[in-house]
Amino acid sequence: MYLNDGSKYLDLTAGVTGFAILGGGVQAVALAVFEQLGKYPHSDYKYFQDDGREYLSEVLVGDAPGGLNKVLFSGGSGSEACEMALLLSYQVHVEQGRPRKSWAIATQQSYHGVTAGSLAVGERPNLEFYAPLLPQNRLRIPECNFLKHARDGESEEAYALRSANALESAILSIGPERVGCFIAETMLGGLVGDVPASPGYWQRVREICDLYDVHLILDEVWSGGGVTGKFYCFEWEQISPDFVLLGKTLAAGYAPISVVLTKSCFEEAIKNGSGRLEASSTFQGHSGSCAAAIAVQRIVRTPEMMSHVEALGALTRSYLGSELGNHEFYRQVRGRGIRNSVEYTCPSQNLFGQQVASELKAKYGIMISGKWHRISLTHSMLLDLKELEPALARIAQCFRVVASRWTTKYISTLVPRHFF
Ligand SMILES: Cc1ncc(COP(=O)(O)O)c(C=O)c1O
Repeated sequence: MYLNDGSKYLDLTAGVTGFAILGGGVQAVALAVFEQLGKYPHSDYKYFQDDGREYLSEVLVGDAPGGLNKVLFSGGSGSEACEMALLLSYQVHVEQGRPRKSWAIATQQSYHGVTAGSLAVGERPNLEFYAPLLPQNRLRIPECNFLKHARDGESEEAYALRSANALESAILSIGPERVGCFIAETMLGGLVGDVPASPGYWQRVREICDLYDVHLILDEVWSGGGVTGKFYCFEWEQISPDFVLLGKTLAAGYAPISVVLTKSCFEEAIKNGSGRLEASSTFQGHSGSCAAAIAVQRIVRTPEMMSHVEALGALTRSYLGSELGNHEFYRQVRGRGIRNSVEYTCPSQNLFGQQVASELKAKYGIMISGKWHRISLTHSMLLDLKELEPALARIAQCFRVVASRWTTKYISTLVPRHFF
């Protein structure tokens, strides 16, 4: 990242919020958008068939991953994808004669966006004051996070089962006839810091959803689109979700676009009922954004790129694990592909992460995200392994240096930075 003042940074935040998965300056993508805008900027999906939109759908679900074979274009943001999935899920229940299924169950420590529907299923402390504006038929269960929630001596397998069974208890407490969907991030993302679910968790969740006719909505706005080393994060779990949300990674920031992947059985339910998908907005499947997404998918969707993404992740985790594993503040390194985090524990933890991030930026021109209880790295898929290793060495060194100064007296001299 080259700034006007002449400074340059190695951006290991993918544009701060994780969207710039190819970095900037990829001419093939810029040109594709430019060409499309020159033809026509947008054609409304309700009226026109758009070749780009059709082609992008084919790219996304042509091989029906997990049985998903339909794409609903939701707009530009992940928030809209979440909103659309909640609306679509409920409409399907209504069309099938189950209008009472209006409850959604979600997980704690997850983020799904800022529209009313998506806010109501997420949990982010700084947004809690909006609660009085939001629908009340929502319930959050603890997120699947072995490090945080396992009991002493509990195996990961047993924990996964217990964690998933909390969903069943929640459904029974509300009444299965009133619960329409369960929404969660396939891999916990921006809030907790890249925590894959424990093995067996998603399989059990799927069973429970099937048992009570509850739709399974997986939010992959953070974890989908190839960033984990598979095109979709749920492919690691070998399950078949009902709806999958994609957003920020789909066009890598070259244009805003989001989608909901779903299945033809839900389309059929609507076709055989009212015949019309009621919720819509102007820029669903924006033609220029589709052009950007197609060009991005051409770069991302290759087996070579997926192997490279996996190799970047493996190097990040093994390097930081071996360099920091014995440090008294260190708890865990985890993640998949280019989404990785180191969890630590120490006094004034939020300040510690902030201080590591700000010193890395000031001294070495490396941008990472550091806050709460973790430092997180997510970088361009195009980063070379050789460029990554020296950056990891500096991150580990900076972590140790800041930790060595971490006394009450030193902490009191620091001014907290404001985070979005
Ligand atoms: C998992 C997840 N879902 C939804 C969203 C919302 O996406 P947007 O900011 O594009 O509305 C985000 C954004 O960070 C996210 O990480």
